[in-house]
Amino acid sequence: MNKLKKQGLDAPLVPILYIIVGLLAILYALLFHTYYSSYLWTVIYGILMIFGGLIFIHTSIRGKSIIWDNIISELNIPENSKVLDLGTGHGLVLLKFAHRLSEKGHATGIDLWRNRDQSDNTLENTKAIIESKKLEQIADVQTANMLDLPFEDNQYDFVVTSLALHNIKPASARKDALNEANRVLKPNGTLVIVDTGHNKKEYLSVLRSNGYSIQQHKTYGIIGWWTGPWMPTYSIIATVNKN
Ligand SMILES: C[S@@+](CC[C@H](N)C(=O)[O-])C[C@H]1O[C@@H](n2cnc3c(N)ncnc32)[C@H](O)[C@@H]1O
Repeated sequence: MNKLKKQGLDAPLVPILYIIVGLLAILYALLFHTYYSSYLWTVIYGILMIFGGLIFIHTSIRGKSIIWDNIISELNIPENSKVLDLGTGHGLVLLKFAHRLSEKGHATGIDLWRNRDQSDNTLENTKAIIESKKLEQIADVQTANMLDLPFEDNQYDFVVTSLALHNIKPASARKDALNEANRVLKPNGTLVIVDTGHNKKEYLSVLRSNGYSIQQHKTYGIIGWWTGPWMPTYSIIATVNKN
């Protein structure tokens, strides 16, 4: 529970609804099994719903972190890098990068602190987490919209975003967010996207048309499922080629 509070649960309504619907289905089957013969299907449905909710919670508090550890272990991150995390939430990814940097580097996280996207999501909470890790010389957070970044052009060696882009709708706005990321990236800077919501092809097409080289793109198994295989996590690592 403490871990959940510190880290926040992504889209908290989704797993809660899955588990409630699952429990109600099982209760219904137990109460009314004498009145219909196919009650076992209701029980199976209930168990699957609860299982989906639990898989979602596992991905949120553990799977996502493992995915980022794997990605970061494959990146070459000089300790003086400047990193920007779009939609940082509780700073999970921000802190993973900050741990790789010296005081010559810096990691900034921006967010609009939406509680429907992550529980207990506030600027103060994330600042307190950074302070508790004694990383305030290396990492900071501010309130900003990824559609309109308050930063100069060509500032960052890495722009990263974790499970935040799909919250932006419609597709044209997601393209605007990617264009903003592109604007603040240094020439040869690296963009890392981890997301869900079936937009991988869309992102790859925008990045290719902006002249990126795609280094890697991957879709993850059960550690990245948001309820089930129909809603997986995927990642894209791309380097921008601009003058
Ligand atoms: C599912 S949470 C993920 C948080 C964090 N990146 C992580 O992986 O733990 C999505 C985050 O994106 C933020 N967000 C959504 N739309 C945003 C926008 N237009 N600009 C900045 N942040 C945004 C939400 O407030 C939320 O903190």
